[in-house]
Amino acid sequence: MKISDDFLWGGSIAAHQCEGAYDEGGKGLGIMDLVSVGAYGQPRKIYSKLEKNVLYPSHYGIDFYHRYKEDIALLAEMGFKALRISVDWSRIYPNGDDSNPNQKGIEYYQNVVKELRKYKIEPIVTLYHFEMPINLVNKYGSWTNKKVIDFYLKFCRTMFEALKDTVKYWSTFNEMNHIDPQTQATDIFTYIIAGLKYSELTDKKQTLATIGYNMTLASVKAVRLGHEINHNFKIGCVFGIEPVYPVNCDPANVLKAYLQTDRDFYQIDAMCNGEFPKYKIQEYFNNGINIKITEADKNDFKFGKLDYIGMNYYASSVAEYEGADSKESALFGGLQNPYLETSKWGWTIDPIGIRYLLNYTYRKYGLPIMITENGLGAVDKVDGNGQINDNYRIDYLKKHISAIEKAIEEDNVDCFGYLTWAPIDLISATTGQMSKRYGFIYVDQDDGGKGTKKRIRKESFNWYKRVIASNGNNLS
Ligand code: BG6
Repeated sequence: MKISDDFLWGGSIAAHQCEGAYDEGGKGLGIMDLVSVGAYGQPRKIYSKLEKNVLYPSHYGIDFYHRYKEDIALLAEMGFKALRISVDWSRIYPNGDDSNPNQKGIEYYQNVVKELRKYKIEPIVTLYHFEMPINLVNKYGSWTNKKVIDFYLKFCRTMFEALKDTVKYWSTFNEMNHIDPQTQATDIFTYIIAGLKYSELTDKKQTLATIGYNMTLASVKAVRLGHEINHNFKIGCVFGIEPVYPVNCDPANVLKAYLQTDRDFYQIDAMCNGEFPKYKIQEYFNNGINIKITEADKNDFKFGKLDYIGMNYYASSVAEYEGADSKESALFGGLQNPYLETSKWGWTIDPIGIRYLLNYTYRKYGLPIMITENGLGAVDKVDGNGQINDNYRIDYLKKHISAIEKAIEEDNVDCFGYLTWAPIDLISATTGQMSKRYGFIYVDQDDGGKGTKKRIRKESFNWYKRVIASNGNNLS
């Protein structure tokens, strides 16, 4: 296969990490508005209400809310073909259960989409990227409660209708797959996905399974709804997947690695195969977890299949083996891979992993895949001439793009887009830091939210511009 002429080169951003303006335009309080800045090696702190003298990065982001025209113009200068944005639910339904949507919120996103269309940039809209009105957590218990699915669908309907003629590509959720009773969970991971702290869950396994199931059901229902509103919509869901490698060729470890990689796929199975997987229900049952699948649910799984798969890829990991020493553990569990280097934040740099994953996923489902996130978080320095030489980022992206091109051209994977995270520096989701930068565009702001917010083109800006102009032929 060849890379198509309309391949979607671009980038991804998320509302709570870039917009700021947390109390403007009628926005309600969202879950991420209560999370402080972390630091290297220190997690972000989660508050149950706003406190004085605490810095909450989502409150200011990079001020995209006011500067989106300037920022989109810069992306257009690079020749962007696509930008993935997210709609902050709490801008549209400030409390989640409001009777009517907030018109100002709707208009804001309509304007952003209009601005993108002005430059022929394809908008890709994620409907849930860690952005939930906090009221839905406090009053209903978040995704543990099926009522929240109805509120989510109401929000989806509002956005599908508001952007019916201007948006074609949608994503129902970002990275819901990190929630699973088998996975080692941390407070920040369960919180960013569902607004609930892992340590405070009473029946942890049952609760995680319920959240995972209800979010999966919400996704298939949203796909059905979207197709009813406009049958030309292409609706996907975005998953954050990492391949897990065996520590050696001991078959026990190979099996362990396979099962660990596949653990993150049960929701993709449910969204692509027309039913919630039987192996998962049996696994729940064996662990004393009870999930009730109604006849209506079964119908939704049958008719709410995805049009494409969105894949966020950053790193790979190595399976733990029985008796592994905890000192050997890598940042997110698993073991360090001696063949790979890591970023300053401990994420492995593994371009072959993206080719592996594209093949693995495409051969499982046969659906088109969009790489919805990929990038390197690094500390960038402005030199004496005001320039930022981020050759390490160019090197990272070059190797990953090259691996994707091999997956398309040599392995015949149907991959139709590549979006970097994030084309412009923004707030890190897991650490809240500004200094963990991913962009082609530097934003003058520090971890304390101080700075001019001036936008500066990095070395990688011109490089990506050449990549796009050559449709991926010129990576030099
Ligand atoms: C992805 C998320 O998992 O990772 C993004 O979808 C996030 O929201 C990205 O920003 C990178 O993670 P971090 O913690 O470096 O911002």
